[in-house]
Formats: sequence, C-alpha cells, structure tokens
Amino acid sequence: MMLHIPQVLTPAELNEIRQALERSEWTDGRSTVGSQGAQVKRNRQLPEDSPAARELGQKVLRALARNPLYFAAALPARTVPPLFNRYEDSEHYGFHIDGAVRALPDGAGWLRTDLSATLFLCEPEDYEGGELVVKDTYGEHEVKLPAGDMILYPSNSLHCVTPVTRGARVCSFFWIQSMIRDDQHRSMLFELDQTIQRLRARHGETEEALALTNHYHNLLREWAEV
Ligand code: NI
Repeated sequence: MMLHIPQVLTPAELNEIRQALERSEWTDGRSTVGSQGAQVKRNRQLPEDSPAARELGQKVLRALARNPLYFAAALPARTVPPLFNRYEDSEHYGFHIDGAVRALPDGAGWLRTDLSATLFLCEPEDYEGGELVVKDTYGEHEVKLPAGDMILYPSNSLHCVTPVTRGARVCSFFWIQSMIRDDQHRSMLFELDQTIQRLRARHGETEEALALTNHYHNLLREWAEV
C-alpha cells in the first residue's frame, strides 16, 4: 500500500528545517549505499552522524509521533533516524531497491525495512523533475507532494528519483520496521481502523463499533511482532 500523509510538518517546522539545511554541509549520497545503488545514485546527503542530521531527524520523529494517520498506517516498531537529501543540476537516483536491513546508530542493532518514507521539504513548483517513481504490480506511480507532506510505500518495491532539471529537490527519507511485517495484513488493519473511525464519526459510540474495535485489536494481537 502506498499512502500520502498530508501536513506531517507545520509551516513553522518546515521553515526551521529548511533554514538549518541551507546552513548545512552536504556530501556525496553514494556513501550510504551498496554497490548496486552506487552505480545509479547521484545526489547529496547530510552525513548520517552529523549533529545537524541528528537534530533535524529528531524534529521529524517528534512530528510523526503526533500523527495518528502515520501510526495507523505504519504501525511502527522501530524507525531509523530520518536522513536528508538534495538533488539539483540533473542529479537523480536510478531504479534501485532499498537494502532489506539497516544498522541502527550507536550499535542499537538492526532494523528490517518494511516501509520507506519520503517527506517533501520544498514545494513542487520550486523544481522541475525529481519525481519519486515507485513500481508495483499495478504499474509505476509518480509522486511529487507539497512541502510538509509524506509518502509511505513498501520497501520491497523498485523505485527511482527522476533527474532534477531546474531548482533543487530537498527531502527527508527514512525506513520503518513495522509491527506488522506483511504488507497485505498491514493494509487490512489500516482499512479496518479507518472504517471504524468513520463509523464512530457518523454514528457515535455503538455496540457495533465497539465489536469491530475488539476485532481490530484481536487481529493486531495475532499478527504483531513487538
Ligand atoms: Ni531508495
């Protein structure tokens, strides 16, 4: 399931992050990928262990922590600290697959990448090109979102970023290990959760909504790895 999560960041948070990124030093994005990725990746990133990346990454995590739609869709068990990248002057990232596991910082073990997230930090009209293209069994999906919005997509899909031919594309990106490993199960739980919420909004608390909530939690208990 691919999901657009609007307004993850407030305009004030966006401004703060953008200003901090303008003062930051960018390095070659090839430092964080394996050999297949290095052949097709042309962009810049904030160094993972730089104080700026750590501080801004924490800001993004705090914003996600207050976002119920993100929680319902991702059911996150653990998250790598968000990273930041920048594409300009025809930079791009050809079709690739994200690594299945990533080391967490400070020797905190490993994370299985179930979901990938891209949080857009500049407006679509500020740059030309730079679409995120995700391939799945339904074809190719092009994504370019307003500043502050985020796309979640399954990490097992091939994806690319098309060349940025004008302006600069700046985004935050990260990976999530979900409590629900299976994308199909996670999507079913998400649909059930959203339907229960709509039922409650329309009819208030009812016996039926309570029964479905019970069912949701029993499925979550059956499938969750925490
Ligand atoms: Ni990728």
